[in-house]
Amino acid sequence: MTDKASMADLMAMGVSMAIDTCGGAHVPYCEGRIDATEADPSGVCEPETDIKTTLSTFSGAGFNQADTIALMSCGHTMGGVHHSTFPQIVGPETVSANNLDGGHAFDDTVSTYGINNV
Ligand code: HEM
Repeated sequence: MTDKASMADLMAMGVSMAIDTCGGAHVPYCEGRIDATEADPSGVCEPETDIKTTLSTFSGAGFNQADTIALMSCGHTMGGVHHSTFPQIVGPETVSANNLDGGHAFDDTVSTYGINNV
């Protein structure tokens, strides 16, 4: 971060370049974000949080309902649920020498990015 570029701008530029480099869509980069000066209330929504509270939490961060749905559905095209955090959903059979947390991917195209798999 410098007096000319905010941390938020640097993160946005990194995301834009990473998506491009991985062969995904071209996300235009625009600068001008202002970094927060203090932390938001701690804690995140949990899977069992009701929809009203979830929408209200995202609204507090400036996201409307469409933004919230887009963020959640797109954010969850990569990664997965882990046995270590949700043993009631993902069983111990997913734990291996190469994956000590165990886990199950959210979908079967976790390493495919871009508009072709939408
Ligand atoms: C109400 C909001 C959300 C809820 C309830 C939620 C819930 C979850 C849960 C239960 C997991 C599995 C965690 C684990 O087993 O370790 C997860 C993983 C993940 N979430 Fe969310 N999520 C939310 C919002 C978001 C958003 C907005 C994004 C991104 C824009 C996102 C991106 C991810 C990613 C990438 C993973 C995979 C992490 C990994 O594989 O280590 N989530 N989420």
